[in-house]
Amino acid sequence: MPDETLGTKRILLIIGGGIAAYKCLDLIRRLRERGAAVRCVMTQAAQEFVTPLSVGALSADHVFTDLFDRQDEQDVGHIRLSREADLIVVAPATADLMAKLAGGLANDLASAVLLATDKPVLMAPAMNPRMWQHPATSRNLATLKGDGVAFVGPNSGEMAESGEAGPGRMAEPLEIVAAIEAMLGKRSGQLAGRRIIVTSGPTHEPIDPVRYIANRSSGRQGHALAGALARLGAEVHLVSGPVSIADPAGVSVTHVESARQMRDAVEGLLPADAGIFVAAVADWRPETETGEKIKKKKGEAAPALQLTENPDILAGVGHHGKRPALVVGFAAETQDLLDNARAKLDRKGADMIVANDVSHDSGVGPGGVMGGARNRVVIVGRDGHEAWPEMSKDEVASRLAALIAETLEKKTAR
Ligand SMILES: Cc1cc2nc3c(=O)[nH]c(=O)nc-3n(C[C@H](O)[C@H](O)[C@H](O)COP(=O)(O)O)c2cc1C
Repeated sequence: MPDETLGTKRILLIIGGGIAAYKCLDLIRRLRERGAAVRCVMTQAAQEFVTPLSVGALSADHVFTDLFDRQDEQDVGHIRLSREADLIVVAPATADLMAKLAGGLANDLASAVLLATDKPVLMAPAMNPRMWQHPATSRNLATLKGDGVAFVGPNSGEMAESGEAGPGRMAEPLEIVAAIEAMLGKRSGQLAGRRIIVTSGPTHEPIDPVRYIANRSSGRQGHALAGALARLGAEVHLVSGPVSIADPAGVSVTHVESARQMRDAVEGLLPADAGIFVAAVADWRPETETGEKIKKKKGEAAPALQLTENPDILAGVGHHGKRPALVVGFAAETQDLLDNARAKLDRKGADMIVANDVSHDSGVGPGGVMGGARNRVVIVGRDGHEAWPEMSKDEVASRLAALIAETLEKKTAR
């Protein structure tokens, strides 16, 4: 059970009419677990997606749906509803609700409450990427931000509509909880105070001053995960191999080239609460690195490359005297995914292995997992495994960050 970080706080949750409304049921549960009192307003459209019965059962309070309900207006009234809260959360915030508040409309209970409130407002937008990117929505977003409305998300990823992907997915319930905690000054996020090391990208193993052995890792998954952990409030130290993508926001980054440099950087960052090893570290490196460029000489045979084993960074940390409470490894496999991941769990001293099928015919595409934008992972833990559907690497990152936060909470009850 999480800490009562929101004990005594009253949250008015306005549920808009989008498919993501189902996530609100989990959000209500998460908020109540943390001690918050949650009272809900549902738009008429929201009731097409989830029922007031479910919302009322989870919030353990009356659900408000109608501006002109005589009984509700007598008992509580829309002005009191908007005032008797410490924070108003709109999730999902539809394009329509954003437009209404930006334009000052108040023709239903949700919009009237939003216009009548003097309390902080947090919106979690959720909509089709084209709706989100429409100039009208961008204008409304800028207006609302200017009016002091706070936002969490949206994330990029797959839409409920098949074949659609892009920005517009509602933030995950735990991300919304973290944003609420930050706004109410309780904690700056579920991972606040946690120090987490993440590795990402490939390594380059030098042959001579100009040549090296590399792999196809882009660093997209590791970088996305580092960013997602930072958004949950963690102090994230990313050790990145050579990549062509930007450093994630809010993360301290050490850039390295080779496996040995990566190992030294990681060990220098211990102790930590968690170590998440996403990097595709080269298993082998050339035994000798020549100081001069190897010259091609006419008539001479091609030079033979003698390889030697690189340090195993995950196993090193998994068995380290300063082992973090949570050690997670990534396993890129092309065959026998589960068996190999389970074996790795023991051999490396890890708590969890995130296995992904990087074979060219994995069906994850375009471009496959290595270097591509999408991923399909199986989470292998000591108590079993869970296969997640194919999704964007950003979505894997936010789900994984939430799972890491929960696992750390269980492992090291504070
Ligand atoms: C199946 C379906 C899914 C929808 N999903 C969304 C959505 O995710 N985001 C959104 O802004 N509107 C979505 N809409 C449109 C809204 O439901 C519509 O604009 C409605 O008037 C919003 O009302 P509200 O803002 O009062 O909740 C969807 C409509 C349908 C029929």
